[in-house]
Amino acid sequence: MADAVTKLAYQTLQQGKSLVGVAHKEVSTRLMELLAPEASAKTRPIPPQMLSELQAAHQQLLDTDWQEAEQGLYPTSLLFDAPWLDWAARYPLVWLDMPSTWNRRSSRNVQDLPRDVEPESFPDYYLQNFHHQTDGYLSDHSASLYDLQVEILFNGTAEPMRRRVLKPLVQGLRAFADRPASSLRVLDVATGTGRTLRQIRAALPQAQLVGLDLSPAYLRQANRWLSQLPSELPQLVQGNGEAMPFAAGSMQAVTCVFLLHELPAAARQNVINDCFRVLEPGGTLVLADSVQLADSPQFETVMDNFRRVFHEPYYRDYIGDDIDARLAAAGFQGIRAESHLMTRVWSAIKP
Ligand SMILES: C[S@@+](CC[C@H](N)C(=O)[O-])C[C@H]1O[C@@H](n2cnc3c(N)ncnc32)[C@H](O)[C@@H]1O
Repeated sequence: MADAVTKLAYQTLQQGKSLVGVAHKEVSTRLMELLAPEASAKTRPIPPQMLSELQAAHQQLLDTDWQEAEQGLYPTSLLFDAPWLDWAARYPLVWLDMPSTWNRRSSRNVQDLPRDVEPESFPDYYLQNFHHQTDGYLSDHSASLYDLQVEILFNGTAEPMRRRVLKPLVQGLRAFADRPASSLRVLDVATGTGRTLRQIRAALPQAQLVGLDLSPAYLRQANRWLSQLPSELPQLVQGNGEAMPFAAGSMQAVTCVFLLHELPAAARQNVINDCFRVLEPGGTLVLADSVQLADSPQFETVMDNFRRVFHEPYYRDYIGDDIDARLAAAGFQGIRAESHLMTRVWSAIKP
């Protein structure tokens, strides 16, 4: 009985998030067409057949999310974990930020970054306004809006999609089942504001967690979210995923969520290679990113629209890339992949 009520509450919450996401995008797009028509992107219509396939994949994702909680992979309370008050307080800022986003879109200005950014501290490909985002990834303002913007973009499915790394992660760590759980080190590459680390903490309360990101501002925001948890604070490190400041073989598992599509091909391979280097033999890498043309050809229009609306300079290359081949080239074995709505999750083992 208690389970049925919790499941209903979860489904209702997700429906609510979905409605808010759809309504927000509908109203903001209309407003942009009215006030800044030159900023509007030409998108392709989604045919009814694709819409129903998307709805079915959405429902399948939520079913999996619920089932894996029921199986005990993570606590059911995680399904409701979100900084609701914080998001409610920040929601007006999302609207206030829109006109500057429209300006950048219409003037095709994708290098509008804070003046105090030292370009030599970052790779060139990073110094852009990904998604036309104000300040790119390089300010506290950007970091404070990011989670909410992503939740809206994915109609409330960002967290369920991130959670799909938990099952292969927990299964992968079984290779080290003879060691104390508190000795296992799990690294989240491009951790951003730490949402994935929060989920990993719920599934692996005793493991040592490490988060790496290039953005000092996003790491500050991650520290805010993660320090609310009663368990040990993850270690947060500023650095480039292509050449991480960690010893070879020092991690038993590595995760990396929504990074690959924001990297040029060479950097994508470098990140995968460096994940291989920092893993101990027997360790598992779990990657999550957008679905691709080869595995989800039925959603080609959705992928194409995403790249038309948002500044995602490497997305087109990414959706045609062969990630399995990149993993194999780095030395990984036991490569598996599955899709969950718009996210593809790969797991691979370092022999
Ligand atoms: C789309 S966000 C994803 C963040 C987070 N994993 C999530 O699920 O929300 C991409 C993140 O990658 C970081 N990033 C981009 N290039 C990077 C690199 N070469 N090394 C480390 N972090 C990088 C950005 O700062 C940003 O936080």
